[in-house]
Amino acid sequence: MTEKNYGGSTSFGFKTKRHEEKSMKSTGLVNKKSKGGDKINHKNNLEGFEKLKKAGEIAKQAKLYAREIIKTGMPLLEIAEKIEAKILELGGNMAFPVNLSINEIAAHSTPAFNDLEIARGLLKVDIGVHIDGFIADTAISLDLEDSEENKKLIESAQTALKKAVEKIHFGIKLREIGKEIEKTILSFGFQPVRNLSGHAITPYLLHSGINIPNHDNFQEYELEKGIYAIEPFSTPGVGQVINGKLSGIYVLEKDGSVRDPFAREILKFIKETYQTLPFCSRWLCKKFGSRALIALKRIEEANLVHHYAQLIEKERKKVAQAEHTIILTKNEKIVTT
Ligand code: CO
Repeated sequence: MTEKNYGGSTSFGFKTKRHEEKSMKSTGLVNKKSKGGDKINHKNNLEGFEKLKKAGEIAKQAKLYAREIIKTGMPLLEIAEKIEAKILELGGNMAFPVNLSINEIAAHSTPAFNDLEIARGLLKVDIGVHIDGFIADTAISLDLEDSEENKKLIESAQTALKKAVEKIHFGIKLREIGKEIEKTILSFGFQPVRNLSGHAITPYLLHSGINIPNHDNFQEYELEKGIYAIEPFSTPGVGQVINGKLSGIYVLEKDGSVRDPFAREILKFIKETYQTLPFCSRWLCKKFGSRALIALKRIEEANLVHHYAQLIEKERKKVAQAEHTIILTKNEKIVTT
């Protein structure tokens, strides 16, 4: 999943609502065993490393599985449920609902529990896996209508990702990564989506502060060791996304309570099960039935969750995406996905 930069090209990501999640660490919403901070502490280092690698391996398998099963005309609901079942079968957990975004929808779209939409066009499949909060985030794009433009768009995003992975190293300036992605996508005759970016990942936090830009954003900050998702988006459009309709994807934002007993039960379930990771109404309907939607509405009204909007290309042009998660240390980089 991506990060939308609300503050323009100089935004460092800290302005977005997402990063208020950081304050949740002090409210006990984050598993105490996990160090939610920017460093993985030494004792947990090795264990964390193994879990990161395992999450990456499962995400990779789920991605291959998605390539294998997805056919034009297949219901998105079936695709999402099959991929998520595969993740669980392989011993992982979802770090966020499988995102299935068609054509001009760049990201943040997942089927509703009663969704009837079918797979078509240029489909982005964005998959998140975690093992005890250690996350892998990865995405592919599929051309489901045998279109030359789709194929070229997908190639441009994949090539930009490959170049960025080659380029990234300890101490690199953020703008240098962005510049590489931008240059590559422009060379295909497309635009990078400039207000979407990759992101640093920490345990149980999908977006933990630092954005990996998809263009030269003049950010001189030098990358430290950590876990990073790199995710170029390319489009023949203007290269900007705007908010679309609400997605049914949520994340817990604040600790608090609701009056309605059933909503309270759902809230407790969300806190215990998803903690600070995104979840969707489809999952809650599966567990509690469709009345979970009313409870979720109550929770939303109490401002305890953030409801993600779909992200749509401003000119309604198609968007392709490619994404990998990497572990960056002083001397090496490991692509986990
Ligand atoms: Co991501």
